[in-house]
Amino acid sequence: MTQDEMKRAVAQAAIDYVVPKLKSDDVIGIGTGSTANCFIDALAEHKSKFHSAVASSEASAERLRSHGIEVVDLNATGGLEFYIDGADEFDPHLNLIKGGGAALTREKIVAGASKEFICIVDQSKQVQILGAFPLPIEVIPMARSYVARELAKLGVEPEYRQGVITDNGNIILDVHNMDILDPKRVEDQINNIPGVVTVGLFALRGADVLMMSTPDGVEVMMAD
Ligand code: A5P
Repeated sequence: MTQDEMKRAVAQAAIDYVVPKLKSDDVIGIGTGSTANCFIDALAEHKSKFHSAVASSEASAERLRSHGIEVVDLNATGGLEFYIDGADEFDPHLNLIKGGGAALTREKIVAGASKEFICIVDQSKQVQILGAFPLPIEVIPMARSYVARELAKLGVEPEYRQGVITDNGNIILDVHNMDILDPKRVEDQINNIPGVVTVGLFALRGADVLMMSTPDGVEVMMAD
């Protein structure tokens, strides 16, 4: 089974989980990335079963619209039933690293506004300790050097992601090779540096349900 086939399989498992629960006035949150794209494509044939979607990026909004799915502003909703998105890494407690696609801030907002966060991944994303994947941090451009110096005080070395501007007009710093032993504390610590918009650690609000695709099928894990 190829990685693409695994992505499509886990997207279909999420469809099977979510669609029977949808009500006609529901607004659902949709994430960003190749696995979220598989979900969007599979969702298209069920578009009559819910009201509309909120997207965590311009790219996902465009893909949803291309399937005739209405995309609404989060401010126009009273909250979201489900949020379905991928991740770059997950640990046994369903803490996540996200933001490989630079959409982390909107992803965190949409996850926060949703009753249930369903994370869909293939088995390559599973780790015991988060941090082998470079941890993305969205930063206000004028604070880039200052934030880098503050991160150095925490003993980590960020790298400026060249040529990337987020949908919010900000830049990304990636922190390499960090053993994140206490994800909630690290999330708080980094978020408290002035100039940081948000860090791509999803521990204070991790996934509620995680579906992991393997060559033998999809495993479902629930948050502890
Ligand atoms: C986007 O910013 C990320 O958080 C994605 O959710 C993450 O990179 C997973 O993407 P893939 O599904 O393409 O691996």
